[in-house]
Amino acid sequence: MKDQIENYINTHKDRFLNELMDMLRIPSVSADPAFSKDVEKTAAYVAEKLKEAGAENIEICATAGNPIVYADKIIDPSLPTVLVYGHYDVQPADPYELWDSPPFEPVIKNDKIYARGACDDKGQMYMHVKAFEMMMNLNALPCNVKFMIEGEEEVGSVNLGPFVKAHTERLKSDVILISDTSMLANDIPSITVGLRGLTYVEVFLTGPNRDLHSGTYGGAVANPINALTEMIASLIDPETRKIKIPGFYDDVVELSEEERALLRQIPFSVEQYQKDLDVNATRGEEGYSIIEQTSTRPTLDVNGIKGGYLGEGAKTVLPSKASAKISMRLVPNQKSERIAQLFAEYFKSLAPAGIKVEVNFHHGGEPVVVPINCIEYQAAALAYEETFGKKPIPVRAGGSIPIVALFEEVLKVKSIMMGFGLDTDAIHSPNENFGVFNYLKGISTIPYFYKHFSALKA
Ligand code: BES
Ligand code: MN
Ligand code: MN
Repeated sequence: MKDQIENYINTHKDRFLNELMDMLRIPSVSADPAFSKDVEKTAAYVAEKLKEAGAENIEICATAGNPIVYADKIIDPSLPTVLVYGHYDVQPADPYELWDSPPFEPVIKNDKIYARGACDDKGQMYMHVKAFEMMMNLNALPCNVKFMIEGEEEVGSVNLGPFVKAHTERLKSDVILISDTSMLANDIPSITVGLRGLTYVEVFLTGPNRDLHSGTYGGAVANPINALTEMIASLIDPETRKIKIPGFYDDVVELSEEERALLRQIPFSVEQYQKDLDVNATRGEEGYSIIEQTSTRPTLDVNGIKGGYLGEGAKTVLPSKASAKISMRLVPNQKSERIAQLFAEYFKSLAPAGIKVEVNFHHGGEPVVVPINCIEYQAAALAYEETFGKKPIPVRAGGSIPIVALFEEVLKVKSIMMGFGLDTDAIHSPNENFGVFNYLKGISTIPYFYKHFSALKA
């Protein structure tokens, strides 16, 4: 199997890269309705490529939002079934001027593919299409494979939940396989065994009924931007960096000393981390390491803030309105809706006299942990051992994939997250990239998951 896979990838790697680059040229930005035609084109592209790879029952399923691409290959109903989940939508590419090359004109430079979506998630999702093609053409597929590729992950997967609930029979499977996370380094393979949940809110503050002259009225009338910054400052303790929302930590599961010891074994250099980011210190919750702070602890961040005069030069104005977008990353067993409620109650209580506050709840998602003592994880670990020559390290990711918790709840199936990106791939940022090594390594590792999972399941 090893030689066959190596040969196949060597023979076809240029095409594998070109097909991915063709998909990267279609700007499937889900957050902006201006791109909805491109979103549809991308769904059609994925469907076409699944068909060429040998999949059957291909369907571009309409939803209230962007379409979901479904396809499968059932070689024998008595064999195990792997359900591949991924997303073809991408984050907005703004700010365009910070890209070294245009985000939707992919280029390969220093053995990396540069484009919006190169890693998140077109590149990683397409590894599965090519791994499947390879196993079909080598006549070596050891299991059934189903694909469910959505177009709304980056906007919270709001239409995927209902789709999954409505199609439990069609999505029946023994394991869900996802490549939409990262690994520690190209020579330190890791498997993602946790995702944080998410509560995303937007707060709107209104002071006076119109913008005012800041000389005539300033000093007497509450300024919503002043109020907003004070209220935001009251959300986190300046010393301990603990979130001050009452009840926020109530359901947080503390790690055992054993689990913390395992995390300490993950290779990590604080100096390198700071150097990469050009910061002279980090700032996180007291008593926890950076790895813990970014994967096993809940957080609160302001993502954007708006209000007042933002044009050139100075304008003396006491604004009528101010707003902010605030995200909270959650860990087991926090519940997204409960946290939204606690936030809204506390935030409103912080409002000074003369300020009206509204809190809107955007998409959310629940946290996930995957046990490592199950055959699903073991199959993945064996696959990495075959292609990397070493055992992978289980790690928890700081990011969120909102649908994953629902998979276990509704489909009663475990999700295995074999991510081949790196944290330095700049996903969601300018100059997003994905290593050619990583892309091809993903393609070569996936078939071993098929193999080991089928064997362990039998
Ligand atoms: N692929 C990412 C999630 C991710 C990135 C997990 C890196 C682990 C490591 C996913 O596409 C994403 O960006 N999710 C969003 C959530 C969504 C609701 C916008 C996130 O985490 O911000
Ligand atoms: Mn993603
Ligand atoms: Mn993303």
